[in-house]
Amino acid sequence: MIAIAPSILAADFSRLGELVREVDAAGADRIHVDVMDGHFVPNLSMGSVVCKGLRPITQKPLEVHLMVEDPAKFFDGFLSAGADTLIVHLEVLPDPVLLLRHIRSFGKKAGLAFNPDMPVERIQPFLTEIDLALCMTVFPGFGGQAFIEESYDRVALLRQMIRDINPSCELEVDGGIDHATTTPVVTAGADVLVAGTSIFKAKSGPAGGTRELLQLAESAAKPWQN
Ligand code: DX5
Ligand code: ZN
Repeated sequence: MIAIAPSILAADFSRLGELVREVDAAGADRIHVDVMDGHFVPNLSMGSVVCKGLRPITQKPLEVHLMVEDPAKFFDGFLSAGADTLIVHLEVLPDPVLLLRHIRSFGKKAGLAFNPDMPVERIQPFLTEIDLALCMTVFPGFGGQAFIEESYDRVALLRQMIRDINPSCELEVDGGIDHATTTPVVTAGADVLVAGTSIFKAKSGPAGGTRELLQLAESAAKPWQN
């Protein structure tokens, strides 16, 4: 089963609760919350108050993508707001092991993200410490960017490493996931797809967008499952 994680960054915030209920009912596996600090990425987005507001709206996991320079500073706030998964960036944490263990010590899931210019091999030593590896398929900071084509090979390499070292680790991709990129990225090895624009700005609406991506993802060939 491939999981769809709608990124609320692309949602109409005046109707956030309603839209999250819609993607939840349409089969979204979790809700992806993009947190930006204006330092690690050149943009600001949202804080734990958004998670707190969404917590009574959905029972699906809230997954927080911390695109910030000092992620540990925000753990308590997001955990008490009801976050289920915290994803930190390898770029700001040369040795993330203690922080990853800290997240897991609360019974929460730990994710490790890395940008398109980070050698994929650099994530290998941490694969046993995480529940999710997030391969960025755009440079983070903004929604609506084009998928970087080189990412297919990076995803395939990461899938091999995950298969060898920690098969229960999820392989998530984030950035430019749409009707064109879903099938090849799933075939390359992704099992969690973050999508903002192609869901919340879909012609068929967020529920239609969620269902369409889910259907494409489910019918894609998955040679890595054999
Ligand atoms: C990138 C964010 C993504 C982004 C995805 O900075 O981490 O989650 O919002 O948006 P789309 O799907 O529009 O590329
Ligand atoms: Zn994200």
